Amino acid sequence: MSALQAVMRRHSYPQVTADAPTHEQLHPFVEAAATIADHGSLKPWRLIELRGDDRVKLGKAFAKEGGSADKPLRASLLIAVVAIHRSKSKPEWEQEVVASGVAYMMSLLLDEAGWGVFWRTGDLTRNKRVAKVHKLAKNEKLMGWLYVGGKPAKSKSQSRPKITVSQHLSTP
Ligand SMILES: Cc1cc2nc3c(=O)[nH]c(=O)nc-3n(C[C@H](O)[C@H](O)[C@H](O)COP(=O)(O)O)c2cc1C
Repeated sequence: MSALQAVMRRHSYPQVTADAPTHEQLHPFVEAAATIADHGSLKPWRLIELRGDDRVKLGKAFAKEGGSADKPLRASLLIAVVAIHRSKSKPEWEQEVVASGVAYMMSLLLDEAGWGVFWRTGDLTRNKRVAKVHKLAKNEKLMGWLYVGGKPAKSKSQSRPKITVSQHLSTP
């Protein structure tokens, strides 16, 4: 499959089965995602796997802050995407952009490998209690979670509306 085909075929899976890739199965995807363009090669990101009770802990933190305890249980594996502000000499937004690219790349690679992925955020993404569950350092911020699981046998076929390229690609 070409990169173009993989990108055009990818879509998000709001519902996934309880299957999930193992820690070892994630390795090649993380290595590939790490090739993303990165100003200064700062590698300003890391990923945290939340499985089993770690999802329950996150749910408890959500509930204490007015959210839903069940939300993190929608998939067996949540991958928290963390942006790290490593360098004061480069703007923070550039480093967040790299982390965002990693999240998308992980989504694409997992999708192409047959896994269903849904990137979720919400009001509690930058909440202190939620940060504590992930043991984030002061210079780290969550970019959300990739909810990862099996693609359900009967998932709705997704027809994406075509864009008008000229609205997105032009000269000044
Ligand atoms: C940074 C980011 C955060 C998102 N957060 C949520 C979310 O909290 N809830 C939600 O329903 N969709 C969220 N989405 C959208 C879905 O992940 C998904 O991209 C969207 O439903 C469109 O589906 P598609 O990827 O198949 O085009 C988020 C997307 C991004 C990029």
